[in-house]
Amino acid sequence: MEQTKGYISNDDKRKVTTHRLLEMKQRGEKISMLTAYDYSMASVIDQAGMDVILVGDSASNVMVGNTTTLPMTVDQMIYHGKSVMNAVKRAMVVIDMPFGSYQGNPVEAVSNAVKIMKETQADCLKLEGGKEILESVQRILSAGIPIMGHLGLMPQSINKYGTYAVRAQDEEEARKLIDDAHLLQEAGCCSIVLEKIPATLAKKVAEELTIPVIGIGAGPHVDGQVLVMHDMLGLNKSFSPRFLRRYANLYDVVSEAVQMYINEVKSSDFPSQEESY
Ligand code: KIV
Repeated sequence: MEQTKGYISNDDKRKVTTHRLLEMKQRGEKISMLTAYDYSMASVIDQAGMDVILVGDSASNVMVGNTTTLPMTVDQMIYHGKSVMNAVKRAMVVIDMPFGSYQGNPVEAVSNAVKIMKETQADCLKLEGGKEILESVQRILSAGIPIMGHLGLMPQSINKYGTYAVRAQDEEEARKLIDDAHLLQEAGCCSIVLEKIPATLAKKVAEELTIPVIGIGAGPHVDGQVLVMHDMLGLNKSFSPRFLRRYANLYDVVSEAVQMYINEVKSSDFPSQEESY
């Protein structure tokens, strides 16, 4: 691992596995994770050296334009999962199980999990929830499928919360979150995402657990960070939570390129003789 201009260049071309994530936590190397939903972007992200690529059900918001993640189906997650898997060589690929595919009947949860794994050949699945979904988690794990947990703000439960505000600010919810994190670890989950909770609580969970804890809006004292790709690339100007850092302003880059193309088509500057047969 070579340190240049503040970046860590990751030359390690080996496939990232659940075991390697655990080793990263043990040696204090932060885990990078980003969402992707299609072949082209997954290819760029994988070749840039991302550790984990999440085929998030946030596809519902950023790819489809829905206001929540609830409408996503197993077949839609499989479509996005396959597209990403066609591109990725190194990163560990995690696919979200969509709303309704694991919360009710644990037997159906296993058959949905097996279907997603068979049809995409992904590395791991992510499920939102703790004690309430423990039986589904245990059954899926016993089928040999790795699971990443997801606690704190769980967007599939937005209708229960009624708001996307920071979670687990009171003692009772914080206690439940810690208990749920331990339950998921004891069940055999390979890692846990903590979304939009106080940084002190996330720090406590990361210190207590031996499995990696990856945060989004959970402060710096966790084992890794995840963001939604469209948000961090600045494709969406209207979503600006405090935790979001924009690493590019692709909205303006794309808009300027498209306007230039329109102008050059209208003015007959495009195509030129050289661009013609
Ligand atoms: O669906 C998603 O993109 C996620 C991240 C916000 C962690 O679950």
